[in-house]
Amino acid sequence: MTRDVVVHPDARVLAESVAARLLTHLVDVQSHRSPVHVVLTGGTVGIASLAAVAASPVRDAVDWSGVHLWWGDERFLPEGDPDRNETQARSALIDALGEALPAENVHPVPAPSDDVPTPEAAADAYADTFAEAGSPAFDVLLLGMGPDGHVASLFPGHEALTVTGRPTVGVHGSPKPPPERVSLTYDAIRGAREVWVVAAGAEKAQAVASALRGAPVDTTPAAGAIGTERTLWLVDIAATETLGTPAALSTTPAAFPAAPETGPELWTHVDHYFSVLAPEDAALVDTRHAATAGGLPDIAVAANQGKLLHLLAQATGARRILEIGTLGGYSTLWLARALPDGGRLTTLELEPQHARTATDSLTQAGVGEVVDVLVGPAADTLDRLIAEETEPYDLVFIDADKQSIPRYLEQTLALTHPGSVVIVDNVVRAGAVIQPDHADERVQGVRAMVELLTRHPRYDATVVQTVGAKGHDGFALLRVLD
Ligand SMILES: C[S@@+](CC[C@H](N)C(=O)[O-])C[C@H]1O[C@@H](n2cnc3c(N)ncnc32)[C@H](O)[C@@H]1O
Repeated sequence: MTRDVVVHPDARVLAESVAARLLTHLVDVQSHRSPVHVVLTGGTVGIASLAAVAASPVRDAVDWSGVHLWWGDERFLPEGDPDRNETQARSALIDALGEALPAENVHPVPAPSDDVPTPEAAADAYADTFAEAGSPAFDVLLLGMGPDGHVASLFPGHEALTVTGRPTVGVHGSPKPPPERVSLTYDAIRGAREVWVVAAGAEKAQAVASALRGAPVDTTPAAGAIGTERTLWLVDIAATETLGTPAALSTTPAAFPAAPETGPELWTHVDHYFSVLAPEDAALVDTRHAATAGGLPDIAVAANQGKLLHLLAQATGARRILEIGTLGGYSTLWLARALPDGGRLTTLELEPQHARTATDSLTQAGVGEVVDVLVGPAADTLDRLIAEETEPYDLVFIDADKQSIPRYLEQTLALTHPGSVVIVDNVVRAGAVIQPDHADERVQGVRAMVELLTRHPRYDATVVQTVGAKGHDGFALLRVLD
């Protein structure tokens, strides 16, 4: 997913520009959608931007009765405390809007009270408010960023970074006072249509550079702030000083050279650099989010691998595709989108909950009609498909329990035709596969596959090892022979 970067001469112009952009965006969105949901941020530039909105004559072009205001995070301080983001936003903008903005459209994070004694209680109450509003996708989510790379109240190394399945979280021990806060989670942030990260000042430069180079989110949380339709970085020139020469500043992070590191971090940066070639649209992002929100493990293919599957399916002209291992339907969606008219995809999944999540996402993505999600142990389902004399598949993607790969390969022969292509994922397993006595049965499953393929009369095969955001692994590419 690319990030657009717009550089401004200084913090004052940046705040004016954020205000102008926000007002224009609100007017644009209101021409085709209402209500509009905006998430506000605190911080010097964030509040200056709100003051600039209040001072702009363009503010009267917005129908404020159709605008809802939310906050990305809040300090767990009493109502009216001058350090609350809400208090600052009220005096910078909300009070100035007066009756044009109905009070019920303003959704502050609850302040401490007898009913809301802890940040967790405030987070729960805020999540309830969000749910009551229909859990809207935020149209614009404004985020400031700290010098440590934090956004909202998601701080480096903090456990709030890993919270999924809910939109808000109570935060304790914030390195920036006060220690108790409430924050949106990544789930909520990444559900926003547009995420705008606003950063000014040389003290932010290191964090801006790290985030735009795709640093891991646990060290630079801002790197994970991504919108479903657009991610926009609005910065001043001082905040870009470690990004390289002005000529290197471009509208995509691809122009920023990766730091000279080795190992997994570098692989992730390189994947990030090439991610412009495998952009995810909203449906792919939603499919990933739905899997995370459903508590499914984070073991889907990466976007570049999904694109590889898509291209292979297209290149082989596959009309019928079989997938073993659906999870939340992410690779399924990449594959299904490669089908020609009249094509079909069958995907097999053991876990009913995974299958349900996938079915919902695939339906949402508009490919539900061409995909059959079959639930149960894949070996049994494959036997059933064989017994039913199912029409042969042109492409097979095997991505389930690795110990069963040899069996799946034998069953696949009865379900394909000469020339069919088979891909088997995760066959390198960080190199463990070269250890003959490795205790992991998945490693032994891959070794048994290699053993089988060295003498198999009906498969021709190769294995390519890969490194990237998913670590060190690889895939086998097989062709079915006569
Ligand atoms: C690595 S995930 C699949 C990821 C998916 N292909 C993607 O990239 O989006 C493996 C999936 O296989 C499923 N699985 C494991 N054992 C299985 C079995 N015996 N039969 C069918 N599915 C199985 C797991 O429940 C899990 O959802």
